[in-house]
Amino acid sequence: AVVTCVPLLCFARVTHGMPDPGQRDLLMLEEAFMQTGGRVALTETEQKLDAHLHQLKEKEMSAALFPPAMHFFKAKPLIQRSPIFRLLQKMPKAALHIHSSALVSVEWLVKNVTYRPHCYICFTWDNSVRFLFSDRQPFPRWDCFYWQLLETLRAKLGDPTGFDNLIQRLTLFTEDPDGEYPNQDVVWQKFEKAFIAAAGLITHAPVLRDYLYRGLVELMLDNVMYLELRSGLSRTYELDGTIHEKVWSLKTFQEVTKRFMSDHPDFLGARIIISVNALSVSEVKAAIKEAIQLQKDFPDVVAGFDMVGREDSGRTLWYFREALSLPADLSVTLPYFFHAGETDEGTDVDQNILDALLFNTTRIGHGYALAHHPLAKAISRKRDVAVELCPISNQVLKLVSDLRNHPAAVLMSEGHPMVISSDDPSLFGTTGLSYDFYEAFTGIGGLKANLGTLKELAVNSIYSSLPAHLKDTGYAMWQNKWNVFVLDHL
Ligand SMILES: *[C@@H]1O[C@H](CO)[C@@H](O)[C@H](O)[C@H]1NC(C)=O
Ligand SMILES: *[C@@H]1O[C@H](CO)[C@@H](O)[C@H](O)[C@H]1NC(C)=O
Ligand SMILES: [Zn+2]
Repeated sequence: AVVTCVPLLCFARVTHGMPDPGQRDLLMLEEAFMQTGGRVALTETEQKLDAHLHQLKEKEMSAALFPPAMHFFKAKPLIQRSPIFRLLQKMPKAALHIHSSALVSVEWLVKNVTYRPHCYICFTWDNSVRFLFSDRQPFPRWDCFYWQLLETLRAKLGDPTGFDNLIQRLTLFTEDPDGEYPNQDVVWQKFEKAFIAAAGLITHAPVLRDYLYRGLVELMLDNVMYLELRSGLSRTYELDGTIHEKVWSLKTFQEVTKRFMSDHPDFLGARIIISVNALSVSEVKAAIKEAIQLQKDFPDVVAGFDMVGREDSGRTLWYFREALSLPADLSVTLPYFFHAGETDEGTDVDQNILDALLFNTTRIGHGYALAHHPLAKAISRKRDVAVELCPISNQVLKLVSDLRNHPAAVLMSEGHPMVISSDDPSLFGTTGLSYDFYEAFTGIGGLKANLGTLKELAVNSIYSSLPAHLKDTGYAMWQNKWNVFVLDHL
């Protein structure tokens, strides 16, 4: 038999069958030391805020309704009333896992973009919608037989806001998430439809420019200081049908970011992770070659490369190995930021985490399955490859219902490298990162997650993302904002 012995336990003094309370305290301290933020030394002021936060947490965790235990669509109004949530909104942080087509709130798309002139709408056979800006009546297409000018339609209806319920077609929100989305297939179908519906609005060139700016505004309102945006860099179109190639989108992103930074000097910047939703090895090869070139031409904007789409129905990373080894074969660096392990199925795609690490991924998108892979876990920890935890996405897309049972609870209690993000905010009805921070901090972290946890998560997001030449200034700016945040909340 193997004799294992935790040193502290071996020496525990036992009197009359009662474990030594002093020894117990030591063990608890030692364990608290291991969690995310456990080794962060808090200043005196930070300790005061931490004590206050602990009280707020105890109160919310003992209330009859605890938001992380509920579906987010029902929990959202409760979270909005939470003083912890309002505090998290003020905390300086960075967003490292957001997709460009779901960056901006749908309210803005409907209230601003669909009210612009020349906006045509079409209702499809499968109960979805398409939009198109055009200076003449658009031709029928395979998915859209009859285009109507939205302005005329609204005027006919008499009620000028009558079409604002379009919002429902562009998000996953519903009053009855459990009834409407009985399984992962149904919710993913709606998810993909919503992306297609929004595409006609966002890929209109003048809209894309405003959309990106508005996206940064919404993040800034949540005190997000830096963004890494996953984007497929769509082609865009003008009113007269002119098409701009992908590089136009990248230039526009660069321009908008510059303008935003000069309007908001305390914003650190934004970069793109080029993300393809590809089916064949040759498509991925082409995409990687293109990404290598774009990174060479726009080194400040292109952070790296990722593959997106539903893992459970797609190919494994290993299937694309020939394409993914191209940069190494060509002796160029193209950092990878793979989505991996966004699954609960235990099938082949489960191995994506290990393969992502073999391809030297910089971070792991989701890594929901990481807790089942001790070796991959050890490697990612050793290399400081952070998991991008997106709790609300995992819940809405039905990997977990009660967020207290999220496997990242294990990762947090072990201090695994981690950042928090929001994946597809517009589709889930969130903005910024604070809703996800709330769920991670109260639901996944539990009572023991403290201000040190928040500080480490926020520092991770700033420190693990910025390019080398921005790290020190970026960190210093974050630290200043953090100090103000702590003082403001005492
Ligand atoms: C839409 O947004 C643009 C750019 O932010 C702004 O200039 C315009 O006034 C907005 N229009 C409406 C109708 O809200
Ligand atoms: C990953 O990194 C290691 C060590 O730097 C290197 O030897 C290897 O070629 C890299 N693999 C790929 C696929 O880039
Ligand atoms: Zn994602």
